Amino acid sequence: MTTSKKENNACIFTIFGATGDLTKRKLIPAVFTLYEQGRLPEGFTVIAIGRRDKTMDGYRDEIHGFMRDILNRDIDDDLWKEFRNRIIYQKMNFLEENGYENLNMLSRKINKENNTAGNRIYYLATAPEFFEIIIRKLHENKMLKNKNSWQRVMVEKPFGSDLPTARELNDNITDMLEEDKIFRIDHYLGKEMIQNILSLRFGNSIFEPLWNNRYIDSIQIISTEKLGVGDRGSYYEKTGVIKDMLQNHILQMLSLIAMEPPVNLSSEAIRDEKVKVLQALRPFTKESVKSDVVTGQYGKSNVFAAYRNEDRVSADSKTDTFIALKTCIDNFRWGGVPVYIFAGKRLSEKTTRIVIHFKKLPGINFYKEFKNTESNVLVIRVQPEEGIFFRINTKHQGNDFFIGPVEMDYCQNCGYNSNSPEAYERLILEALNNNSALFTRWDELEYSWRFIDSLYRSRENEVLNYPNYEAGGKGPVNAYELIEKDNRKWWDKGGEKNDLI
Ligand code: BG6
Repeated sequence: MTTSKKENNACIFTIFGATGDLTKRKLIPAVFTLYEQGRLPEGFTVIAIGRRDKTMDGYRDEIHGFMRDILNRDIDDDLWKEFRNRIIYQKMNFLEENGYENLNMLSRKINKENNTAGNRIYYLATAPEFFEIIIRKLHENKMLKNKNSWQRVMVEKPFGSDLPTARELNDNITDMLEEDKIFRIDHYLGKEMIQNILSLRFGNSIFEPLWNNRYIDSIQIISTEKLGVGDRGSYYEKTGVIKDMLQNHILQMLSLIAMEPPVNLSSEAIRDEKVKVLQALRPFTKESVKSDVVTGQYGKSNVFAAYRNEDRVSADSKTDTFIALKTCIDNFRWGGVPVYIFAGKRLSEKTTRIVIHFKKLPGINFYKEFKNTESNVLVIRVQPEEGIFFRINTKHQGNDFFIGPVEMDYCQNCGYNSNSPEAYERLILEALNNNSALFTRWDELEYSWRFIDSLYRSRENEVLNYPNYEAGGKGPVNAYELIEKDNRKWWDKGGEKNDLI
């Protein structure tokens, strides 16, 4: 999906939100790794903007300390010395006019010194309430359009908090900035195995012809985390798992799994097909929410605090930290195939899996020797292991004719020295190369919010008996009933493949 366009990609990379966790844990380590690999253009310079008072050396030392922990490998001293000079800390209040004037002056100076051709990427790693105001100030200070150079804006999630607010934000920013200059981040799109979905689907004749409701029984997307909300309580109180994970990461994975083959691998062609999947998601109703959705919130355990006792979380919070649901994609390819989703925080393991259950062959039960066969299953293991698991039936070795399942398991990152690039490395590189395929287009957001809004609307007045699962446990009991009443089981959640952890 990488299309390197031949243009000068030297640039200044300005991060708003320099002291936040995302910048320290993800963005700077990603930029450093790209620098180590020689993938950054000549002169590439980071301006890190934060609201706190910090000296240049103080900030650089701070991120060095963080990077050592995060990258978990030796950092070459000489390389770090070179790199640190490319990080400029600038204190600035996002709301103040003269901050932007100073930033513009600083950018011009760096542009001259480092030959960055006037090109700029602005990365908004701030709280969402600042997205619009920062873009407006950049626009008013003429920092978003310059002759003979390009300017791009990368925007973190969440983009809006429902369809009306997302639309308003989008209308306001697209008044100042064209769609092709906006790079809305969903970091899952930068993950190795998510990129692999297209190769797996469209590069293998054994899958694509079967990839429809005639041969596929059901799809599961499982995305669980061991961690709780940590110090992000006030953010999470406003999002919960539905807006934090489902609206973006999970629906993006689903759209790649279910889309039609794009006419080519350009950003627009891929996103044209993804958006049709989101458009075809069946909206929830009051009835379907009751039968097809289970939400939850973690309570305390011997080891962990309850969600309600986390920092900056209300003592009677009704925020969901867990969701399991069943939905359908109402189109010709997928009509009748249930899609099950299981996602939450403070569960027993960190895992992201996409599980495709194929149908059993209709005649298979006529042969008594085949009674132990299982349906074929393909599992895309997104993380922590990255790979593919495939279950087929074969005759077991020996003189008896006994048929049963065997499992093929390919792990791409299990070997020594086989680290996949971090999602943010790839996303930064793609934005530098002006390739939008790994970023969310407005219409994708629009339809994903439409689906999520239907869920919220249908839940109005719901009585939530929270907490309803133990921190570090397997999630609410009802989540298991939700799938078991359809005679199916969650893959590896005490279900069919209990040991695949
Ligand atoms: C982020 C969410 O977008 O994704 C976090 O805000 C979540 O709450 C994280 O923990 C999960 O990402 P990953 O890459 O660790 O699976």
